[in-house]
Amino acid sequence: MSKNIIEVKNLVKTYPPDVKAVQGVTFDVKEGEFFGFLGPNGAGKSTTMNMLVNLVKKTSGSVKIDGLEVDQNLDEVYKRVGFAMQEVGLDEVATAREMMQLHGRLYHLQPAEIDAQIKKLLKLVELEKVADKFTSTYSGGMRRRFDLALSLIHNPKILFLDEPTQGLDPHARQLIWGHIKNLNKQGMTIFLTTHFMDEAEQLCERIAIMDKGVIVTEGSPAELMKKHDAKNLEEVFLKTTGSNLANEEVNNNAADPYIRARQ
Ligand SMILES: Nc1ncnc2c1ncn2[C@@H]1O[C@H](COP(=O)(O)OP(=O)(O)O)[C@@H](O)[C@H]1O
Ligand SMILES: [Mg+2]
Repeated sequence: MSKNIIEVKNLVKTYPPDVKAVQGVTFDVKEGEFFGFLGPNGAGKSTTMNMLVNLVKKTSGSVKIDGLEVDQNLDEVYKRVGFAMQEVGLDEVATAREMMQLHGRLYHLQPAEIDAQIKKLLKLVELEKVADKFTSTYSGGMRRRFDLALSLIHNPKILFLDEPTQGLDPHARQLIWGHIKNLNKQGMTIFLTTHFMDEAEQLCERIAIMDKGVIVTEGSPAELMKKHDAKNLEEVFLKTTGSNLANEEVNNNAADPYIRARQ
């Protein structure tokens, strides 16, 4: 039985004055596991994930990564994790290679090591040919692939991905899925948020569904279907969140002033 590499207890985030974004979530992720966080827009997925790596300050609760209490061991934790988050924008006036060099230096890698990583990672995500072009000229799919390469520069044990395929066409999504699957096969723990059911079903060994700041159900895709007497994950989602994904994006965004403001 592999050990828990992420341990989260009673995690809470309240944005002032009283937005209860995350209302006490508890879960573990095992080393090498592909773990998915599902839920409608506004459920609290990004807030939770950002708290796991201290990009958002938690209101209360505890997060341990690789046995380390995150907020007391940030340097050690950041050596172990890579992240590609929804809100992190790419620098518009730098090339892929320049940004990767900068990130490598931030992680204190040696110059030769940085060059080797850049070569390997740009090949992995099929961006070698555009390594010296400004990332602002990239298509959506290329930017997502570059985000992924950048998050891997220091060879992390755990990868956090917030909606890695949002806004991509089916072909670009498949490409990203393939890359992430391979990383997981090589032993990397993956923690991903998504609101694509097919993505979750194809990729994730274990899933937690979140709604309105709490985890409403958790298990492998097969366990969830059995537990909720559903023929697929979409039906599980519908039964546990009362939310119809097809309308979700439109409805929730329109209703949520914070999400609307970011668009
Ligand atoms: N910086 C912020 N300030 C105020 N409210 C926020 C902020 N970030 C997120 N929220 C609110 O917290 C809730 C959860 O948001 P989020 O974690 O982004 O959900 P998800 O990623 O599941 O779509 C939403 O109601 C959202 O409007
Ligand atoms: Mg989000």
